[in-house]
Amino acid sequence: MKGIALIGFMGSGKSTVGPLLAKSLGMPFVDLDDQVTRAAGVDVAEIFATRGEKGWRRLEGRALAEIVGRNPIVLACGGGIVLAAKNRDILKSNFVTIYLKTRTETLIDRLGQHTDRPLLNVPDKNSALRRLHSERLPIYEETADFTLITDGKQPEQLAVEAAALASQRLEN
Ligand code: S3P
Repeated sequence: MKGIALIGFMGSGKSTVGPLLAKSLGMPFVDLDDQVTRAAGVDVAEIFATRGEKGWRRLEGRALAEIVGRNPIVLACGGGIVLAAKNRDILKSNFVTIYLKTRTETLIDRLGQHTDRPLLNVPDKNSALRRLHSERLPIYEETADFTLITDGKQPEQLAVEAAALASQRLEN
């Protein structure tokens, strides 16, 4: 049976909605970033600092390939998981993929004060966010079975909507 993978940009709510969704479906919840940092024994910033983005991508790809053996689960993916074609294939074959889609301005508001995303720890954070978001939008759309607009919605409501979409797909 397939699991459910939440994809979308940093700050779109994957790690908040994921546990609520998992609880409502009676499935285990896994946060892929946590899997990577636990296996590495250091946090995301440290991995980026010592191994670069390339090193992070290698580790997250490996964590995704390993997690498939534990399916069905609800999986919250890091925002960059869809960048590698191999990851997209794994997601599409093994998960119902739900894209949590959030307006760029909402993401800017939400991520403004945070410093825990190395890709956004740059002098012009908002420009970096805008550029990355527009580059990735089509990839999220292409990878997703379903898209949920998150703006103006509470995590609880999103979890209910995601559960309805996923249940319909998991039953067929
Ligand atoms: C990244 C998103 C982060 C984390 C890393 C890289 C990205 O996860 O995997 O900082 O490239 O979008 P969240 O989407 O959970 O913030």
